[in-house]
Amino acid sequence: MSHEEFPTDTPAVVTCGLPYANGDLHIGHLRTYVGGDVYSRALESLGQRTTFVSGSDMHGTPVAVNAEKAGTDPESFALDWHEQYEETFPRFDVEFDNYGHTHDATNTDLTREFVRTLEENGHVYEKEIKVAYDPEADQSLPDRYVEGTCPYCGAKARGDECDEGCGRHLEPGEVENPRSTVTGNPAEYRDQTHKFFRVSAFKEYLSGFLDRLEGTSNARNQPREWVEGELRDWCITRDMDWGIDYPEIEGEEPTDLVLYVWVDAPIEYVSSTKQYSERVGADEYDWVEAWQEDGEIVHVIGRDIIQHHTVFWPAMLHGVDYDEPRAVMASGFMTLDGDGFSTSRNRAVWAREYLEEGFHPDLLRYYLATNGGFQQDVDFSWEKFRDRVNNELVGTVGNFLYRSLLFAHRNFDGTPDADVSPEVESRIEEAVDEFAAGVNDYSVRAVGNATVELARFGNEYIQREEPWNLVGEDEEAAAQVIRDCVQLARAVAVLFEPVAPGKSQELWEKLGEDGSVHEVPADAALEAPPREFGHPEELYEKIEDDRVEELNEKLERRVAEAAGDDDDAESDGDDDAGTETDEVTASGEADVSEFEPIESDRISFEEFQELDLRVGEIVSAEPIPDADKLVALAVDIGVETRNIVAGLKQLHDVEALAGTPVVVVANLEKAELFGHESNGMVLAAGEDADLLTTHEDSEPGTRVR
Ligand code: 2FM
Ligand code: ZN
Repeated sequence: MSHEEFPTDTPAVVTCGLPYANGDLHIGHLRTYVGGDVYSRALESLGQRTTFVSGSDMHGTPVAVNAEKAGTDPESFALDWHEQYEETFPRFDVEFDNYGHTHDATNTDLTREFVRTLEENGHVYEKEIKVAYDPEADQSLPDRYVEGTCPYCGAKARGDECDEGCGRHLEPGEVENPRSTVTGNPAEYRDQTHKFFRVSAFKEYLSGFLDRLEGTSNARNQPREWVEGELRDWCITRDMDWGIDYPEIEGEEPTDLVLYVWVDAPIEYVSSTKQYSERVGADEYDWVEAWQEDGEIVHVIGRDIIQHHTVFWPAMLHGVDYDEPRAVMASGFMTLDGDGFSTSRNRAVWAREYLEEGFHPDLLRYYLATNGGFQQDVDFSWEKFRDRVNNELVGTVGNFLYRSLLFAHRNFDGTPDADVSPEVESRIEEAVDEFAAGVNDYSVRAVGNATVELARFGNEYIQREEPWNLVGEDEEAAAQVIRDCVQLARAVAVLFEPVAPGKSQELWEKLGEDGSVHEVPADAALEAPPREFGHPEELYEKIEDDRVEELNEKLERRVAEAAGDDDDAESDGDDDAGTETDEVTASGEADVSEFEPIESDRISFEEFQELDLRVGEIVSAEPIPDADKLVALAVDIGVETRNIVAGLKQLHDVEALAGTPVVVVANLEKAELFGHESNGMVLAAGEDADLLTTHEDSEPGTRVR
């Protein structure tokens, strides 16, 4: 950790990547917004002065192309979507302190100011370049108006991003075999003068910045290769009508070009903070302090836009003497039932549809925030959603709350008169620490899990202490147990608020508390609850199997209808939140008949993640006397040495096995074979039990992913 731990004395800004105002939001898009909202609420709960901002991304070809398809002008098209997003986010309790848009006056002015400062500081120059042009349509082909092949990885790419391959940003003219998306014709190249931001001059600065950067490891590590490789200057102008006009620069001829959308988009983070600050007053929150003095800037984004946030944006900020981001949290992608979301195929669970189905927003918030680490890919299916809701929210959290509070209400009219026991007090303190550690590790999952584990403890505690057997026998002991349980319930309300704000408020009120639980800091989890409270209600409701069936049928029907409407429906390529992952298959040329067929049942990424695979080294190997094939191995897996029984006797020279590096399944259930404990499995391929290993010097204990 290169920065002081949260909470600090300086203001924090949490931002979410701006959605392009060009289409409906589905639940895949919500992942980063829920993540950002949970994170900012959790920061506030630790006592950090925080603002949470975002806005709609109105410019660029992602908007212009879709507006054209819709037969309308980009401004009214984007404004329409902007208004819908403004309305949708709060319905999921994603409560931005300010949600602006990039086309408003604040952002237009501030963007021009940024560019003028970059010019004044000598970070911008002009250069003649070759830009793609469609002679038939008689127009330039910036960004999404052109498609071709990525020069770095050979994947199909758009003009400014390799969206299906290596994910790199591509400069104008870089895409190979360019074709116009307007007419489908091969594009020509024409000379045109453009403005360039001298990113290459920031190499040293960026390298140091990456050393200091916190957040998810993908955002900290991936940019290294870009910064340490050839760092190219960045074309910041485009030949199109829609966008912010390039500002007039003293002593220069004005240009007709507009700014590239990726210049004005991140500046909206600042503009949105400024609008918030102007609304509440600088005494409450000062945007200048946050962005130009010593703010704690945390960007929450999809992993497809890491390069923009860890290379271009910090270089721009540094070029105008603003603060640099403290952290970037980049989420993994989302799939729907193992496959990509597809807007054109109507293969999505739409945000509004989810609510119209009558589900509480907190259920989805919980699923999105805690289903895998933030940077891991997450799959959504109605079955998985049902299982997590039923097992964790209903079975663990809801069950603990209901049984404890009902018992308390019936037997004590509320909170029994006793002090919290040392055991429960220290368990709650532990949960508060886990919550704070989650914030400092940028893990919204850990923030959520801290509470679920606390409720799990609550269930075990009440089960162990059996207060129902104490009532009438030992009133004092019964009162003690229930006093503890009510305190645990109060702690659940406080600590679960970032993930489940609506349900936590309901619980708060059920406990007879006043005001908003959102205002209650995490370390107040141990404050005493009110003496009296009423009859509790079940906080979470089970999702039945037939409901899941019905929802799956609906989705299938919809996809089939969309396919009927448009047999050629291709991936619409508007994967703006990095959530559509259209499957790419590679056909190999091996003779496949000699191999076992591939399992037809796919496992999810989460299921795969459950396997704990470790690098190990065989320490000793002893044949097991009565077994034909089995060898008793001792395998060093870094954290410990394991006894593992493996079928290697006839296939390997047992005496030579010591010292062999292997890969071990470390979380396999223990078994007993010929009287020997087998605590794990050594992986081997084929009839020859060819032992798996790594190709570099990974130490025993290293996790294999
Ligand atoms: O990729 C996108 O969806 C962009 N609209 C994100 C912009 S985020 C920011 F930097 F402004
Ligand atoms: Zn590529």
